[in-house]
Amino acid sequence: MSLFKIAVCGRKGGVGKTTTAASLASYFAFHGLKVLVIDLDPQSNTGFVLGVDPIAPGAAELILEQKPQPLEASENLFVLPGGASLQGRDIEMADPAELSYAVQSLSEFKVIIFDCPPGSDHLERLGLVAANIALVCTNAHPLGIIGAERVLAEIRRRHERHQTGPEHCAFVLTQINKSRVFDKELPEQLATKYSDIPQLSIRQNSDLAWATAQRIPLMDNSPSKKAIEDIEQVARWIVEDTVVSEQNNGKKV
Ligand SMILES: Nc1ncnc2c1ncn2[C@@H]1O[C@H](COP(=O)(O)OP(=O)(O)O)[C@@H](O)[C@H]1O
Ligand SMILES: [Mg+2]
Repeated sequence: MSLFKIAVCGRKGGVGKTTTAASLASYFAFHGLKVLVIDLDPQSNTGFVLGVDPIAPGAAELILEQKPQPLEASENLFVLPGGASLQGRDIEMADPAELSYAVQSLSEFKVIIFDCPPGSDHLERLGLVAANIALVCTNAHPLGIIGAERVLAEIRRRHERHQTGPEHCAFVLTQINKSRVFDKELPEQLATKYSDIPQLSIRQNSDLAWATAQRIPLMDNSPSKKAIEDIEQVARWIVEDTVVSEQNNGKKV
């Protein structure tokens, strides 16, 4: 059974979803967990940044039960790319639970990460319904925050209606540079409104950007301690908080 099914979401483009998804995937794989990243973005950036063929059959084919072969990016690290076929009518018509059903046959992967696209409620929903954990990404820009709030509202709505969706949810504050006023104020700003949602944070770090630009998974690219610290903190929350909370029957949304 897959232990962690993680939707990396945020609705706004450019807030670091793909960087977070790819770095976290590399981190878990490096520590011996078999990881699959499923890219739900028609732009298909995840396959590109992890160094596999971004136009190979992937997420769309999985949803349509065509059994695409996950592509190996590194030891323990596999990818099903996104692509233009995610915009097809058959995917548009697909039931929101279709991806959740499809990943049941991928139980060899202990971690499955859904890299959600910007601006598409439907593709994002496929990821949310299939996930048990949501990482809601925002940077300090007001548009990033609005996007994150929209996803969080959707997650909460599903929860209140007892619809399938992630039981555990945290904000991931991305591209953080504490010398900027907006970035410094962001944690407080979110905590005032969402005191019950944990906050994780990933600093602006050229190692993270550089690994994706070079198309090499983070841990294969000699990252700095600072880059790993932030990703490790996210991984730790996923492993410790969600599992401990499940054992205690706790709710995080
Ligand atoms: N923590 C970070 N440090 C430095 N650059 C980052 C960081 N997170 C994202 N970026 C950069 O920001 C841009 C957008 O990131 P990306 O992950 O593609 O966003 P999204 O998937 O939300 O559209 C990319 O150029 C990426 O390299
Ligand atoms: Mg992306």
